Amino acid sequence: MSESPALPVTLDRASPTPLAVQLAEELRAAAGDGRLRSGDRLPSTRALAAQLGVSRTVTAAAYEQLHAEGWITGKHGSGTYVTTAPPGSPSARPKPRPAEPTEVAEVDLRPGSPWASGIDRSAWRRAWRGAADVAPLPRPTRAGVPAYRATVAEHLLRHRGLRVGGDHGGDGGESVLATAGTTAAVAELAASVLSPGDVVAVEEPGYQRAVQTMVAAGLVVVPAPVDADGLLLEAIPDGARAVYCSPAHQYPLGRRMSAARRVALVDRARRDGWLVIEDDYDGELRYDVAPLPLLAALAPDVVVHLGTTSKILTPALGVGWMVAPPPVIAAVLHHRDSTGTSPSAAGQIVVVELARNGDLGRHLRKLRRELSERRGMLVDALTAADVRFLGDDAGAHLVVPLASAEVERAVIEAARARGITLDGLARHHFGPPAWFGIAVGYAACSRPQLRAAIPDLLSLLSRSSDPVGTPSG
Ligand SMILES: Cc1ncc(COP(=O)(O)O)c(C=O)c1O
Repeated sequence: MSESPALPVTLDRASPTPLAVQLAEELRAAAGDGRLRSGDRLPSTRALAAQLGVSRTVTAAAYEQLHAEGWITGKHGSGTYVTTAPPGSPSARPKPRPAEPTEVAEVDLRPGSPWASGIDRSAWRRAWRGAADVAPLPRPTRAGVPAYRATVAEHLLRHRGLRVGGDHGGDGGESVLATAGTTAAVAELAASVLSPGDVVAVEEPGYQRAVQTMVAAGLVVVPAPVDADGLLLEAIPDGARAVYCSPAHQYPLGRRMSAARRVALVDRARRDGWLVIEDDYDGELRYDVAPLPLLAALAPDVVVHLGTTSKILTPALGVGWMVAPPPVIAAVLHHRDSTGTSPSAAGQIVVVELARNGDLGRHLRKLRRELSERRGMLVDALTAADVRFLGDDAGAHLVVPLASAEVERAVIEAARARGITLDGLARHHFGPPAWFGIAVGYAACSRPQLRAAIPDLLSLLSRSSDPVGTPSG
């Protein structure tokens, strides 16, 4: 084994390609064409960062990516070595691994993506193998696969305290519809229960994919600001037909809707004829905060409850659920039947298998533990650096408020130059932005990436964070 000479790397700071991605590409190319040989020892992430004049986050992210691809080996502290064979031999080429992501070398701290790499691969394989044993279905299942609907009913009871199906004596599945995810469900509601021109109030800031789905369906969207208790009811216009909100963990601000606001919301909904759409996108992820009753538990007659596997498993599965009053269920089923659409059964069967094996429960426990520890790392660091943040002890992101759009943009830019991708609050508005800041997601990256990125994050945020806060915060 030999210590590599100064590494043959040049980085282009003007390029839009993140530095970590460039570095990984350069090292991969050097290993592929023989400039680096199997057994060569690479400098530490710290030494290489100093050599290249970049942050350690960049070198750590590049090494982590190459490690995942099998180009390098070694552990923290004991050296990192090139593992490729000399050029020319067939094994010098990286083995094609089509199912693996190949361009994730930058540290992605945006909210939204789940900890998909945390899914136990043997459990995942077991579920897909089990799903393959299910006989081909002769026709589409408009409401969803019965076993899936029963699995969801059980999941909601166990993890969200929601008893569905009430007194019908069944397994609860009859008041649950399978969906292809939250936004797909919103599109179906817009096309079946609502009509073009109907007014829908949405949280501001809020989940713009759902909002744009409504706009695309011809609904008239009215943004309603949120305060510390949740969506402001007085901002909902007369004549509204529906209200869309995320009470368990307001997206993106990360706070719960208070119990009093929940009760007031469903009371008004009953009085004024609103359909309340409850987006429970990450309701299973709660660490140290007491659960509050779901809107669907308070008022099953006026609430459509939407859940998804996008945050607990992967959005690539395309599987979610809807619990709704009987007329809404009937309207959605009629729409599916008349348009010949229904959510694909394959992902539903995989979820059934995961639950049947006990793997879903194990994964949820592991996910909660991992994300709460990651959150703890981040919260401790922000607290020690005196950086103010918002958000309950829940979910997979928190928010650091900033004073203005310019500061938000500058922080995102500066982070990008250090190989960290951040997400700002401004883009989560339907109208002119009123909240500025960074929504820091801690599920998409790996734990070492998060740990390595925290010093950079702190140095950017502690200079910029907003000590007084943004609207009604
Ligand atoms: C607020 C919110 N709701 C719902 C979802 C999930 O949507 P889907 O089930 O369509 O993937 C997300 C995903 O990012 C989200 O952020």
